[in-house]
Amino acid sequence: MKRLLAILLFGFSVGAMAGAQAPEGEFQNSACLECHQQQDAELVAAWRDSVHATAEKAATCVACHGNNHDKAASRARRDATCIDCHGGQKAPAVHSYTTSKHGILTRLEQKDWDWEQALASANYRAPGCAYCHMHSGNHDVGTAIRTWRPEQATGSDEREQVQDTMRAVCQDCHAPRYITNLFDNGERMLNIGRMKVREAAVLMAQARGSYQPAGLEDAEKQFLKMKTQHLKNVYLGIAHQSPDYQWWHGQAALDGDLIRIRGAIDQARRLLK
Ligand code: HEC
Ligand code: HEC
Ligand code: HEC
Ligand code: HEC
Ligand code: HEC
Repeated sequence: MKRLLAILLFGFSVGAMAGAQAPEGEFQNSACLECHQQQDAELVAAWRDSVHATAEKAATCVACHGNNHDKAASRARRDATCIDCHGGQKAPAVHSYTTSKHGILTRLEQKDWDWEQALASANYRAPGCAYCHMHSGNHDVGTAIRTWRPEQATGSDEREQVQDTMRAVCQDCHAPRYITNLFDNGERMLNIGRMKVREAAVLMAQARGSYQPAGLEDAEKQFLKMKTQHLKNVYLGIAHQSPDYQWWHGQAALDGDLIRIRGAIDQARRLLK
């Protein structure tokens, strides 16, 4: 609540906060951290808790805001800030968003939006990366991400937490019932994806018991792709509301994997004879 108030005040009166003028000039990241630790320890702590602080290719304050205070916040709010470091336009985490209605609308209209406004004031028609992941200036991007991943077993507590955090964001613009239906359908779709992977896992376990590893190389490769890419595409399609990723790069790709794995195992069987 305190944070929300601060953001509201901020929107109306930047330099009016007593003694809180952003200094001019260029700074190294260590200086950003040191000074902002005093300005807002909570913000810096939230960032430190996130993978953005701990990842090898860390997203520092400078990576998102630049090395000075000129348009520091409005720069960070734009999709371009996130996209390059997240693998560029072709990376699934990005492409799943750019092929969604949100991504398309944002691309078409972002030139006319006022990026000086705080994200929480919801003056954009559609959400960009930061709108969803850093809503209300939340600097821990992990708070709305499952701590488990699609290939792992589900933990319903984490799911609830993700849904609560994201739900609030979606409901800036959508009706609660619409979002409930979407989330429920998403879970069902992810479970169907997991079932396909389990079916393949059973086939692979049987094949490994019967044939030499050399004969199963193609099947193993396909199985890996299924687990690490195609199931993830289903998840990203649900996460970023991209029908292309849910179906074409997701479920249809998983169906294709099953067919190819069966084919590759048949091949191994024929070679054995
Ligand atoms: C010597 C202190 C100091 C240093 C160094 C410093 N800042 Fe700030 N910064 C401030 C103050 C004071 C404000 C205004 C009040 C606030 O938002 O906390 C501010 C504001 C900001 C804002 C909000 C601006 C807006 O328009 O809403 C961002 C973003 C920011 N700083 C990022 C950075 C980054 C990135 C660095 C390093 C390149 C940095 N700061 C270095 C003191 C500092
Ligand atoms: C992943 C990109 C990213 C990183 C890394 C990042 N910020 Fe931000 N920051 C943003 C975005 C986006 C906003 C705008 C939030 C909004 O409008 O509600 C913002 C807003 C701010 C603000 C304005 C106050 C607020 O809550 O809206 C300050 C101050 C700030 N950041 C400081 C920092 C400092 C200091 C660091 C390093 C510890 C940092 N940021 C790291 C993206 C980032
Ligand atoms: C409409 C809101 C929304 C927008 C816009 C959005 N995301 Fe997401 N994002 C989500 C949701 C929801 C999840 C999945 C949360 C969960 O269930 O784990 C997610 C998941 C992710 C993940 C985690 C994937 C993984 O590997 O586990 C990353 C990374 C990500 N988004 C980055 C981005 C980037 C980069 C952009 C912009 C190019 C973006 N998001 C735009 C809502 C959004
Ligand atoms: C300088 C590089 C860099 C920038 C800039 C950057 N990120 Fe990240 N981000 C990463 C890395 C590295 C990870 C951890 C590996 C991964 O998930 O891709 C990550 C992870 C994430 C995650 C998943 C969090 C989790 O706990 O799994 C989300 C969501 C995310 N970033 C959103 C954003 C958004 C939104 C922006 C722009 C405002 C942004 N990132 C800008 C490098 C960056
Ligand atoms: C800032 C406003 C805003 C936020 C926040 C937002 N959306 Fe949207 N969303 C839109 C707009 C605008 C459209 C396009 C509506 C249309 O089809 O004309 C849209 C479209 C969609 C669609 C596609 C509907 C279709 O007919 O194809 C889905 C699904 C969706 N949103 C889900 C979500 C989810 C889930 C979240 C939260 C993670 C979310 N939205 C957050 C504004 C928003």
